[in-house]
Amino acid sequence: MGRKDKIRVLFVCLGNICRSPAAEGILKKLIAENSLDGAIEVNSAGMSAWHEGELPDSRMRAHGRLRGYDFCSRSRPFNSLDFERFDYIIAMDESNYADLLSFAMTDEEKTKVRRMTDFSTRYTHDHIPDPYYSGDSGFELVLDLLEDACAGLLKFLRGEI
Ligand code: 4NP
Repeated sequence: MGRKDKIRVLFVCLGNICRSPAAEGILKKLIAENSLDGAIEVNSAGMSAWHEGELPDSRMRAHGRLRGYDFCSRSRPFNSLDFERFDYIIAMDESNYADLLSFAMTDEEKTKVRRMTDFSTRYTHDHIPDPYYSGDSGFELVLDLLEDACAGLLKFLRGEI
């Protein structure tokens, strides 16, 4: 084993029914495909509690299913205790990023907060756009961006294991 026995990653968006549960499902699939179960733990949360307890948005589930994913987490709000539970807290957009930083109490907590697009390799987008009021193309774009950023993130995390 390397420096850490386990790395814990939390994805955060606004509602925890579109972007962050999709990121969670995509990274979990990559982890399984790379036999890294047990080395990396993944979870997701929302900056709001508007959809607490709900499955991901049916449109996101349908678009994910077309790519072989089963997005099945339940929405939950972000909690300050998440700063203790997770090593990386990854924001989907600038609003989530600013909100998370405002919750951080220490420099150590602040350094845990990252932007999802920092891990992009093929795209130059600086945030993952909220697809809630968009059509099919918005959901497809989110999945394209997340698949790319999750691959980049996994490469980064491998260096930490
Ligand atoms: P998410 O998308 O933050 O990617 O889960 C949204 C979900 C719900 C709402 C907004 C964004 N909403 O306004 O209820």
